[in-house]
Amino acid sequence: MPNNISLKANIGDYQFDNVLLNAAGIRCATTDELDKILDSQAGGCVTKSATPEPRKGNESPRMKATALGCINSMGLPNHGFDYYLKFAEANQNKAGKQVILSIAGLSVDQNLEMLKKIQASSFDGLTELNLSCPNIKGESQIAYDFEAVREILTDTFKFFKKQLGIKLPPYFDMHQFDRIAEVLNGFPITYVNAINSVGNGLIVNPETESAVIKPKGGFGGIGGQYIKPTALANVRALRLRLRPDISIIGTGGIRSGQDVFEHILCGANLVQIGTQFGFEGTKIFDRISRELKEIMDKKGYQSVADFRGKLKTL
Ligand code: SIN
Repeated sequence: MPNNISLKANIGDYQFDNVLLNAAGIRCATTDELDKILDSQAGGCVTKSATPEPRKGNESPRMKATALGCINSMGLPNHGFDYYLKFAEANQNKAGKQVILSIAGLSVDQNLEMLKKIQASSFDGLTELNLSCPNIKGESQIAYDFEAVREILTDTFKFFKKQLGIKLPPYFDMHQFDRIAEVLNGFPITYVNAINSVGNGLIVNPETESAVIKPKGGFGGIGGQYIKPTALANVRALRLRLRPDISIIGTGGIRSGQDVFEHILCGANLVQIGTQFGFEGTKIFDRISRELKEIMDKKGYQSVADFRGKLKTL
C-alpha cells in the first residue's frame, strides 16, 4: 500500500486519522461492537442512534440482505441514551479517533431532553441528530418537514453550544435541496450526514409471493448498492448549497475504495459505511483504505483534500 498517501480528514476542529467510519445502526449497538470499530482502521465510530430509554425495536424478521443491498425496519433498538453517552464520554478523542454520539428521539421533546443532557455532560465531541429514521410506526421522517427542522434547530441552539451534525434522509427534488439548505444555513451546525436509508421501499420474494420483512407490512429503509447514485446526488447538491464551513459526511452505497473516491469527489469530508460493513465487519476498513490509496496513488493525489468536491460536469 502506498505510504505517502494520507486518508486524514477533519470536521471542524475534530481530526480523524481515516475518512472511513461506520454508519449508525450497523454493528454499533453495544460497547463491544463500538470498541471493535475503535480498534480498527476506521477514523472513529458512530453510536447506534439512541432514544432516551432502551428500546427493543420492531418485530422480526426486520432486516433482509439481498444481492444489491438490504432492507431494514429495525425500529431503533438500542440500549438507551445513558449507555451511549457514558461510552462517548469515556472514549472521546483518543489518538486521532472520534466518537460521534447519535441520537434519534421519538419526539421533539425527547431530542431536546437528550441534547440538554449532552450539553451538561463532559462529552465534547460531535453529536449527530438523526432526523431521518423511516422505521418508527406512525411517525414521519422529521427532515421532510422543513419548518419542523427549523423549529427543532431554533429550540436546540437556544442552549446547545457543542458541535452538532444532522443526519438527513435522501431528497429527490431540486426544490427540496434548496429548502433544506436554506434552513440549515441559518444555524451553527457543524456538519450534515447524507443520506440515511431510502425510506419505505418494498422488497418482494416472488417465490413465496411475500414481503421479506415483517414490520410495517414489509416497508423498510433501503441500503447498499441500490442507493449510491441517490447518496452521491445528495452529497453533491448539498455541497453546492450549504455554507462552506458546514462539513458533509457521505453515506450510502459504499462497497469499495472507488465508491469512497466518488463520494469525496462530490464533496464528502468523511464517509460512513452501513450495509457493507454489516456484511464484512471491521476488516472492511483495511480493504477500502487500501483500495482508496491505490486509486489516489494512480491519480497522483496525496490527500483527500486534493480532489474533494472537484467533480467535473459536462
Ligand atoms: C432503525 O433502527 O430503524 C434504523 C435507524 C435509522 O434508519 O435511522
